[in-house]
Amino acid sequence: MKSVVILISGRGSNMRSIIEAGLPVRIAAVISNRPDAAGLVYAREQGIATAVVDHKQYAGREAFDLALAAEIDRHAPDLVVLAGFMRILTPGFVEHYSGRMINIHPSLLPAFTGLHTHQRALDAGCRVAGVTVHFVSGELDGGPIIAQAAVPVLPGDTESSLAARVLEQEHRLYPQVVRWFIEGRLSLRDGRAELSAEATPVTSVLCVPSADA
Ligand code: GRF
Repeated sequence: MKSVVILISGRGSNMRSIIEAGLPVRIAAVISNRPDAAGLVYAREQGIATAVVDHKQYAGREAFDLALAAEIDRHAPDLVVLAGFMRILTPGFVEHYSGRMINIHPSLLPAFTGLHTHQRALDAGCRVAGVTVHFVSGELDGGPIIAQAAVPVLPGDTESSLAARVLEQEHRLYPQVVRWFIEGRLSLRDGRAELSAEATPVTSVLCVPSADA
């Protein structure tokens, strides 16, 4: 059975959605850069191995990334899943996991890379917002796009109401993408995400606003 390592920094709701999806995969470990990440508690409760590689204990990004890679590679995962992992990664680290590390970002990339995506979408007057899952490249939130889900921005939306609507789609999209990867339907080829013909394109499904929106 293929295995994944999930990296988190906080709440870990995306990690949880992947674990709860019951995918035919071994969750080899959940690793956090923050000892107090709430998601670690849930992972431990599920009997999943957890580890903390605290970035504050390292002199710089290179040293931290080396320690993190060593911790990940102990498990020899097929896929590394960044799920709310809030660290900028060094080029060497990204290269090491090229084609086997994915990230979820709460905007319709390439719009709104970085932080505060929902507030920025509101400030810009966007009528749609959403989420992107992408392969990780050297460019922050700039790697090849795998799948996206869009939601409407509704009158009266606040940062938190929009975040909640997007998060609901995150929890649908991320397990689906992990499934494609472990089933061998998804790969990185010539700098683009390639999805096999039998994988259902997610965008056409998830662009439809949910009934209660
Ligand atoms: C999510 O919105 C994710 O897209 C972003 O950070 C948030 C993490 O949430 N990268 P959680 O820790 O998965 O609950």
